[in-house]
Amino acid sequence: MIGEEIEVLYEIDSTNEFLKKNYKSFHDGAIVVAIKQTAGKGRMGRSWYSPEGGLWYSVLFKPKIHLNLHVYTKIFSIAIIEVLRKLKIKVYIKWPNDIYYSGKKICGILPEAISVNNRVVAIVVGIGLNVNNDIPPELKDIAISLKDILKKKVKITYLLDSINKHAWNLLISYRNETENITKIWKKYLVPREGDKIKVNVNNEIVEGTVLKISEDTLYVDVGGKAIGVQSIHQIID
Ligand code: BTN
Repeated sequence: MIGEEIEVLYEIDSTNEFLKKNYKSFHDGAIVVAIKQTAGKGRMGRSWYSPEGGLWYSVLFKPKIHLNLHVYTKIFSIAIIEVLRKLKIKVYIKWPNDIYYSGKKICGILPEAISVNNRVVAIVVGIGLNVNNDIPPELKDIAISLKDILKKKVKITYLLDSINKHAWNLLISYRNETENITKIWKKYLVPREGDKIKVNVNNEIVEGTVLKISEDTLYVDVGGKAIGVQSIHQIID
């Protein structure tokens, strides 16, 4: 189960870093939750603003057979999307793995592998969900919290419990058929295959149709030629 073993810390630099340092002391499925993080980490070396009021936590996986990091990201993305949609919040996955509401980011996921002698020994999946925290003015154009959407506070323990239960069920059901996880993930993606989008190719904005989507590449048909887009920043909103 995810979250059967739980450690709550009032303040820590980063729950991912904490679990990476202390993974030996925890079992498979353990979670570490922080009330606030002083050096929250985002993807691609970015920082993650984590004041009190948000849901900041990391999950440790120590399975016998390791799944690809993408699989963990997708499982948590789907779990979070489905839990929030039950609350009537129309969130979606902005390719490849950010969770958005109405053009603003509400949640990010950071999976990391722990390796010893080039062998993966454990995986840490960090989840940052803006729940009851205020979004600072400089981020208001790009980020949003649940409190801002619902105009009321949400019970963090309910979210934590529901997300973990749902993620665990998905993991158990689909760990041997990860192509089905990809199918569900694609259902919540924006853009989707067949959508018309604008992309930046060598500093030129061109229009095309999404042909195929994988974890790391979006293939776009631009005037009959398939172009591989590898960064979210190449997609023009
Ligand atoms: C992203 O850049 O979208 C990923 C953000 C992940 C943030 C979470 S908060 C809990 C965990 N601890 C961290 O330092 N980062 C992740």
